[in-house]
Amino acid sequence: MKIAVISSNEARLQEMGRLLALNRHNVLLTSGEKTKIRSVAEQDAPDLMLIDGVCCDPDDLALVDYVTTHHPTTAVVLLCTTQTPEFLIHAMRVGVREVLPAPASPEAIEAAVNRVAAKLQGSSQRQAGKLLAFLGCKGGSGTTFIATNLGFHLAEFRSVLLIDLNLQFGDALSFVYEPPPALTIADVARDINRLNASFLAATSVKAAPNYSVLAAPEALTQAMAIKPEHTEAIIKLALLHYDFVLLDLPRILDTLALKALDCADKIYPVLQAGVPGIHNAQKLLTVFRSLGYPETKTEIIVNRFEKGGDIGFSEIEQSLSGAIVRTVPNSYKEVNDSINQGRALLASSRSNAVSKSLAELAATLIPPNDDVRGLLGRFFKRT
Ligand SMILES: Nc1ncnc2c1ncn2[C@@H]1O[C@H](COP(=O)(O)OP(=O)(O)OP(=O)(O)O)[C@@H](O)[C@H]1O
Ligand SMILES: [Mg+2]
Repeated sequence: MKIAVISSNEARLQEMGRLLALNRHNVLLTSGEKTKIRSVAEQDAPDLMLIDGVCCDPDDLALVDYVTTHHPTTAVVLLCTTQTPEFLIHAMRVGVREVLPAPASPEAIEAAVNRVAAKLQGSSQRQAGKLLAFLGCKGGSGTTFIATNLGFHLAEFRSVLLIDLNLQFGDALSFVYEPPPALTIADVARDINRLNASFLAATSVKAAPNYSVLAAPEALTQAMAIKPEHTEAIIKLALLHYDFVLLDLPRILDTLALKALDCADKIYPVLQAGVPGIHNAQKLLTVFRSLGYPETKTEIIVNRFEKGGDIGFSEIEQSLSGAIVRTVPNSYKEVNDSINQGRALLASSRSNAVSKSLAELAATLIPPNDDVRGLLGRFFKRT
């Protein structure tokens, strides 16, 4: 492993360097203060940073936060002489892997390094994430609402990146996060040669601890410069680093959309219970069959579904013969409030029927060896 050690205590620095070199690690020693944290992370991109001397002041953790946010593949372990419970909580929140009491014994350092190494090996062997594609059968069906809010549910248990591929009029971020994005997918496309996990994390907005959104460009002209090969490279990389990658797709089956649909594990066409939506869903199903997609790849979502409406569930199922159909209930006021406030519905209303139905959908996406009932149990316990 490539390990960077930062300490202002020269003797401790050399001692740690000797110990790590003995264990055949590639060691970079930096003598000095914590202000060097950022430059070391940026220049050396180590697998692990062992930082001595960030101990009491939670403000110091802003430097560590920068590293864990912008260089997610670098693990951070702190060596502290004093450890208050507040500091430990803050350290955990900014993503510090471990806090060791300083001076740490050689055994304690070795054990911590081995734990990071084991994690690193595990992540290099991790399976690719799941790709979920959402597209509306008709404008305004609730595609963006469902994609962004399902992402929020999944992020309670797994790492999630939502990519807004509605390049011209995408508004996905605003459904779950209020401030406008500083950077968007246009910035990634412009600098596509720099594309790596850190760059992708830095250009995405963290809407919740485990939930990032790569926003659509702010200007139409920027959208036009984004090519299918850019989005393909972004999706491929994202799948290596996130458990779930969600795509909010535009309602056009162009090269960009077809490439994304080909790679998708699941496609969720979204419609409302009306003739035009059902008609378009039939058209999509015909295309998916001609492309050879297995039937189980597509799950139709009938959004804002109300029992006793003009078109019943069995009629919809019959018109979409063979397709898996799910429903999400109608809850106009609460859904609209959540969108207008830029907050996921789950964050404000866990007991809402729409939240519950999205929790059920999220539970279908967790691998079978996870306890799905436990997942739902956890959700309902909190409601
Ligand atoms: N389950 C629901 N209950 C009530 N209202 C909903 C529900 N889902 C979505 N809506 C309403 O539908 C509107 C449109 O939703 P959304 O923007 O997600 O649709 P869309 O399919 O992404 O639209 P576009 O075609 O513009 O991309 C929302 O502003 C919200 O008012
Ligand atoms: Mg939309």
